[in-house]
Amino acid sequence: MGSAANLRPSEPTEQAVKPKLTLVPKSDVPGDERIGDLPIGAKHPRAFVGAAEGYDIMAATQFSIMTLLGLRQDDYLLDIGCGSLRGGRLFIPYLQPERYHGIEPEAWLVEHGIENEVGRDLIEIKRPVFSDNNEFRLTIFDQQFDFLLAQSIFSHASRSQIASCLEEARKVMAPGALFVATFLMGEEDYTGGSWVYPGCVTYTLDTMRALAKEQGLACRAIDWPHAAQQTWLIFAHEENAEQIPDLDDTTRILSMENDLRFAKARLAKLQNHPYVRLGMNVVSHPLYARVREATSRLRRAS
Ligand SMILES: C[S@@+](CC[C@H](N)C(=O)[O-])C[C@H]1O[C@@H](n2cnc3c(N)ncnc32)[C@H](O)[C@@H]1O
Repeated sequence: MGSAANLRPSEPTEQAVKPKLTLVPKSDVPGDERIGDLPIGAKHPRAFVGAAEGYDIMAATQFSIMTLLGLRQDDYLLDIGCGSLRGGRLFIPYLQPERYHGIEPEAWLVEHGIENEVGRDLIEIKRPVFSDNNEFRLTIFDQQFDFLLAQSIFSHASRSQIASCLEEARKVMAPGALFVATFLMGEEDYTGGSWVYPGCVTYTLDTMRALAKEQGLACRAIDWPHAAQQTWLIFAHEENAEQIPDLDDTTRILSMENDLRFAKARLAKLQNHPYVRLGMNVVSHPLYARVREATSRLRRAS
């Protein structure tokens, strides 16, 4: 895999059709309980990209934020550092053919995602496009994108890598595009010059804003859940800054909706309990009304 085109499923290369899975023990397939014991960064398609037990929820939060922000089936999406297709396995079926693009230097992760998460049939139908470029050369696809995603990429990247990624992103962002990324907010900036993995690096929000500004991009932090407590950012072309939605209350509303759903489910369960149903039958029985009447008469008389 060296370019975007040579990973199109319709034009498979020898590398693309031959999954290199020798380092993944057969029993460590998704769903295998033991993956939860693997450390983050272990050579396993789920553990390599984060805490293996949070693989599903991290996919769900990526998919839900992108669709909430307006991602629709005919949009072009670029998933930067797409890993083992954690998000891709939801985005690829959702989007129309040739809309999903993934860039990932660890080709074995993509191959595993194709074989075990998405499946060859869907790949044939949806024809996602991949590249293993490792320099954030987002122009490699020769495509303008409506949405870009970099989940847990800036949390490992050096300042100059983030700058390169944003510089390239600006070139491939369609005029109204939104670039959604996460980073680990801290009080200090990582000053090293290289990618850190599986450890994380921190930046201040001011630094992220400054990096965006240098590339002519506006940047806003939004309130959206993240399983590893990273902060979500949305970038847009500076002239479209007002298109970045304000999601400050989202988490609170989501959590209230969850509480409500939970309370409703508990209520329904309680109402179906045999003792409660028996009690409700007793209360609504005409005899019960007569007993209540007699009791209150007795109380008044005494
Ligand atoms: C923490 S993982 C996140 C993967 C994916 N976004 C997800 O949510 O599952 C970081 C990923 O970035 C990839 N990566 C490393 N260097 C990169 C680069 N220069 N360009 C794109 N991705 C890179 C790693 O191989 C790894 O798969």
